[in-house]
Amino acid sequence: MGMIGYIREEIEIIRERDPAIKTPLEVFLYPSFKAILKYRIAHKLYMRQHYFLARWISQRTARKTGIEIHPGATIGRGLFIDHGHGVIIGETAVVGNNVTLFQGVTLGGNGKEKGKRHPTIGDNVMISAGAKVLGSFKIGENSKIGAGSVVLSEVPPNSTVVGVPGRVVKRDNVRVPQADMEQINLPDPVLNDIQQLKKEIEILKEKIGGLNV
Ligand SMILES: CC(C)(COP(=O)(O)OP(=O)(O)OC[C@H]1O[C@@H](n2cnc3c(N)ncnc32)[C@H](O)[C@@H]1OP(=O)(O)O)[C@@H](O)C(=O)NCCC(=O)NCCS
Repeated sequence: MGMIGYIREEIEIIRERDPAIKTPLEVFLYPSFKAILKYRIAHKLYMRQHYFLARWISQRTARKTGIEIHPGATIGRGLFIDHGHGVIIGETAVVGNNVTLFQGVTLGGNGKEKGKRHPTIGDNVMISAGAKVLGSFKIGENSKIGAGSVVLSEVPPNSTVVGVPGRVVKRDNVRVPQADMEQINLPDPVLNDIQQLKKEIEILKEKIGGLNV
């Protein structure tokens, strides 16, 4: 796609997803516009093994926009990064089509994996402000990650995930019951055994008392 086509597409994406935009010209003021354009150039250089130049563009863009996209990341069409500051997309991250990220999102590693160590984000996923997605798992298409969540494992499609660590609270727009996740009143087999033994001791005491020895 040529530059004009890219600008047209960006205007459409931003108009569709940010109610704050009033005139098409404002698209040039969005850090997302600048960061994704520079990423596309850096990614081409990275694929041709011009690693230094690719990183140079990526780091310079990060200083200017607050959005750091590693040139090795694979990004589909229609990515929109709203506000942008503090967004990090790691080297082995894969981002599908029509994904929306807000400020402060990290698509990062958990420090324990080698090779593919960043997440794969499905089509139409929204990742809210400040959310951290850490590891090489997949976020299923059409899912939403709540603000401030820390997601450490695979998310099925069409889910809403919130909290630290992230847990699925909705699937296919239906609330997922949380009762089976209750951690406070768990059964205690040791306590049960002790209570059973106490009962048996009481019975034995009564029997011994009844012998009159
Ligand atoms: C997660 C989110 C996308 C809503 O998704 P949704 O599928 O419509 O989910 P709901 O609003 O029905 O919430 C489902 C449950 O998760 C809870 N929840 C929602 N967002 C949460 C969050 N960020 N952290 C913790 N819990 C959250 C709700 O209270 C609700 O709990 P309940 O079932 O006990 O009432 C939204 O809450 C969110 O986080 N938006 C942030 C968008 C953003 O980044 N804006 C920044 C603009 S600058």
